[in-house]
Amino acid sequence: MGWIPSILLLFALAIGSNNNVAYSLRLLRVEVPTAVRRGDSVWLNCTYNLELDELYSVKWYKNNVEFYRYLPSDDPPAQKYDLLGVYVDLSKSHLGNVYLTSSDLNTEGTYRCEVSAEAPSFQTERAERELQVYVLPKGGPRIIGTKFQYQIGDEVNITCHAAPSKPAAILKWHINEEEAPPSFVWLAPLVRYRDGLLSSQLGLHFIVEPSHLVNNVLKLRCSAAISQAYSMTSEEIIVGNTVRASGLYTAIDGPSIEGGLTKYQVGDEVDVNCTSRKSLTPAKLSWSINDKKASLDFTVPYEPKVYTNGQKASLLGLKFVVRGHHFHKGEMRLKCTATLSKVIDTNSEEIIVGGNQQSSGLHVSENGSTVKNVGIIIRQSCWITVTFVLLLYRM
Ligand SMILES: *[C@@H]1O[C@H](CO)[C@@H](O)[C@H](O)[C@H]1NC(C)=O
Ligand SMILES: *[C@@H]1O[C@H](CO)[C@@H](O)[C@H](O)[C@H]1NC(C)=O
Ligand SMILES: *[C@@H]1O[C@H](CO)[C@@H](O)[C@H](O)[C@H]1NC(C)=O
Ligand SMILES: *[C@@H]1O[C@H](CO)[C@@H](O)[C@H](O)[C@H]1NC(C)=O
Repeated sequence: MGWIPSILLLFALAIGSNNNVAYSLRLLRVEVPTAVRRGDSVWLNCTYNLELDELYSVKWYKNNVEFYRYLPSDDPPAQKYDLLGVYVDLSKSHLGNVYLTSSDLNTEGTYRCEVSAEAPSFQTERAERELQVYVLPKGGPRIIGTKFQYQIGDEVNITCHAAPSKPAAILKWHINEEEAPPSFVWLAPLVRYRDGLLSSQLGLHFIVEPSHLVNNVLKLRCSAAISQAYSMTSEEIIVGNTVRASGLYTAIDGPSIEGGLTKYQVGDEVDVNCTSRKSLTPAKLSWSINDKKASLDFTVPYEPKVYTNGQKASLLGLKFVVRGHHFHKGEMRLKCTATLSKVIDTNSEEIIVGGNQQSSGLHVSENGSTVKNVGIIIRQSCWITVTFVLLLYRM
């Protein structure tokens, strides 16, 4: 899924500016929900500590475009700018806390809060977080391509179509409650709709054998699960080519980067490891170089570390030789993002082939799985006949 989300915490980017210890404005928290359901309202909260500084402005940006600013010296202090997908309600917003009345797929993006202090420190602090919008499917997956009747030796070639959702559903085929072997499954292309929703498709192809029947019945089930990131944390290191750059920015709850130097030159090898925080299901790690996803040739997968209490920490290395294009204004940004996802919706459709069931049509079970008895009969006698013919042949 092309959804590599990230929360980027970039504290103290204003290194090199007038960094007077006596004032020291500090950004405390930037709270942006990782994922919201389409239509939900959203709070974007930015909390800071002024210490002895005086506030000059708090600004919010989405994908680098400003949509809100609060300047105590302005009248009124809070202003908003129209931006696609960002529905600011000024009457509820105050200082760094901004209320969005609704959300749609255009609301997705990287949100940045930027706080600046008045003279004499002029200090600016900023931090970014990624927001994603999800849409649950309306209904379960559908099984398409079934024939009215199958016999032993027949080819089953059917497709499961997930209802449109975002992110795309993960489909699985089960034969008699066991996951279908990979050789039976074929991947059909993802369908993209104009409104941004996606529909996964998964094919199942095999020849019916007697061993596929349990009590004369062959049960084929397709299940669809929507998994959504609920936590994304990143750590970024910024390294320079000529000067010792700003070093390491640590997010309290983020993964950690080990092995980085503070200064690299063209021709040097970067060899760093990213370790996620411990969790029961290991986090998915990804690397980006200057905000672009690192090529697979550069990443080194390692086995996760397993702890005695069953928790796991994922480990992903990044190894490449530095080229001139990796530096932008003398800096290279290496970011590792840890994503934790959970299944937020499951649904399935089942077809039962064979047996003596007379009921036909559709019934939906309590937990949302759809069971359809298509009334397809596999005649036990067919394969007895086949065996008989084979025996005759041998004689
Ligand atoms: C954000 O701020 C608003 C208003 O101050 C508050 O109601 C809301 O609970 C805050 N949200 C979070 C996640 O802190
Ligand atoms: C299975 O069906 C799909 C279309 O539904 C077709 O493209 C594919 O070639 C079929 N596979 C076989 C092995 O017949
Ligand atoms: C990264 O981790 C692997 C596995 O633990 C280790 O072999 C390797 O030396 C580490 N590399 C760095 C740069 O720390
Ligand atoms: C859902 O229902 C099916 C059929 O009634 C059952 O086999 C399955 O265990 C149920 N799943 C859950 C998660 O309750």
